[in-house]
Amino acid sequence: MYQTLLTEISNHILTITINRPDKLNALNKQVFDDLDTVFTEVYTNAEIRSVIITGAGSKSFVAGADIVEFKDFTPDQGKALSLRGHQVFAKIEHCSKPVVAAVNGFALGGGCELAMSCHFRIAARNAKFGQPEVNLGLIPGYGATQRLVQLIGKAKAMELLFTAAMINAEEALNLGLVNYVVDEGELLPKATEILSVINTKSPNAIAHCIVAANAVFDETKNGYQIEAEAFGECFQTDEMKEGVSAFVEKRKPDFSK
Ligand code: COA
Repeated sequence: MYQTLLTEISNHILTITINRPDKLNALNKQVFDDLDTVFTEVYTNAEIRSVIITGAGSKSFVAGADIVEFKDFTPDQGKALSLRGHQVFAKIEHCSKPVVAAVNGFALGGGCELAMSCHFRIAARNAKFGQPEVNLGLIPGYGATQRLVQLIGKAKAMELLFTAAMINAEEALNLGLVNYVVDEGELLPKATEILSVINTKSPNAIAHCIVAANAVFDETKNGYQIEAEAFGECFQTDEMKEGVSAFVEKRKPDFSK
């Protein structure tokens, strides 16, 4: 169905695997087109309640933008590529369903940026993160100058952007870039375990959490105002009625409908 992705839905969790292992899953134009399309499905398919993004093979999550593809680019083509990356990664970041990156191996350049566009990240012990663009005479183009600063703070982000250093999973954990580090075989089970818990919660409430939390990073928005509006909107939902009734009746809420 997709040229560069494998997809599988199990227990309402869609696992998306970037599948170019011979190129360490580097992001070419086709990967962006496929990610764009698969996220349209995530937005519209009610069977999908949450998403895992990972990379094919054990060596790499995504080793960056496909360097071969852009070597003869003009400035306008470079800018257009960056804007395309922003658009697709914003579609992931603003998805109303939780999206987790399961980082297996290299997450460099656009790979680190893809992971950062997800709502949170889990790393295998062999994961390596970095923004090596300055080695190529470039800067990150798919959001790292913004999201890396947001996630780990300006000083450490500046150091990683300037040095092109690769950090391991434990350092990423210490910086708050990833939530957990697990053995390689435990990566997808851990992501599935967390999403299975999340999938029992109110989807509407989670969607509102995403909108309000993302507003922190949008200067054009007043996050507190968005929170108040979202809080208010929850009161008109069947899910809120079910959640509160279940509490009063001392039973587990059922948000599966
Ligand atoms: N774009 C295009 N191709 C890439 C790639 C990328 N970002 N990263 C890896 N590949 C390709 C290699 O060219 C190689 O292809 P080949 O077998 O046809 O020659 C294949 O993937 C395997 O990579 P290789 O470099 O042989 O593996 P390695 O284990 O020696 O090194 C890395 C792994 C990740 C350290 C190294 O591939 C690398 O530095 N990649 C580029 C990372 C980068 O700068 N990303 C930011 C881009 S803006």
